[in-house]
Amino acid sequence: VRILGISGSLRRRSTNTALLLAAKALAPDSVAVDLFDGIGELPYFNPDLDGETPPPPVGAFRRAVAESDALLISTPEYAHGIPGVLKNALDWLVSDPDFVGKRVGVVSGSASEGGFAQRALLEVLRTMSAKIVPEAVITIAAVRSKLDPEGSLADDGAAAELKRAVAALAQPAK
Ligand SMILES: Cc1cc2nc3c(=O)[nH]c(=O)nc-3n(C[C@H](O)[C@H](O)[C@H](O)COP(=O)(O)O)c2cc1C
Repeated sequence: VRILGISGSLRRRSTNTALLLAAKALAPDSVAVDLFDGIGELPYFNPDLDGETPPPPVGAFRRAVAESDALLISTPEYAHGIPGVLKNALDWLVSDPDFVGKRVGVVSGSASEGGFAQRALLEVLRTMSAKIVPEAVITIAAVRSKLDPEGSLADDGAAAELKRAVAALAQPAK
């Protein structure tokens, strides 16, 4: 099973990227979690750019999505919203036949609970016909307090939740 991890934060020491790296480390041998680190290279979504040959970063993103069995999005909320860079990336997947029906999990890693962004993101994903896996939608509040000084996840509860989310996402579609 191949899970594509997408972080909603471009920050070098992003806690959400750290959560995805923790998910990768926690995943069973049969599950590969690979991070897509190119959403910062995507142009601003513009239907005029989306012709027969989309911009190369868009092609690379869509290929990575197509080659995955499921997506795990880990994101903070910014001012109670979805970070623009993540919404922009998702806009490039609207109507992408390889995205429709894709199993998706959401990790909300924010200073607070990130509930506003999580609800908005789930609404966007539903509208895009993703198959949201409820057991893989989790909240890791006060996320910065759960990393060690090296930026690795150091919280047993959060690690257990991530592990359960990855396992749920990796279940074959019912
Ligand atoms: C522009 C901006 C807006 C933010 N807005 C919120 C918010 O609405 N709710 C919240 O819980 N945290 C908010 N935060 C704090 C983030 O949750 C926190 O910085 C988190 O660590 C960012 O994720 P990252 O570590 O993956 O970059 C905001 C941070 C930034 C930079």
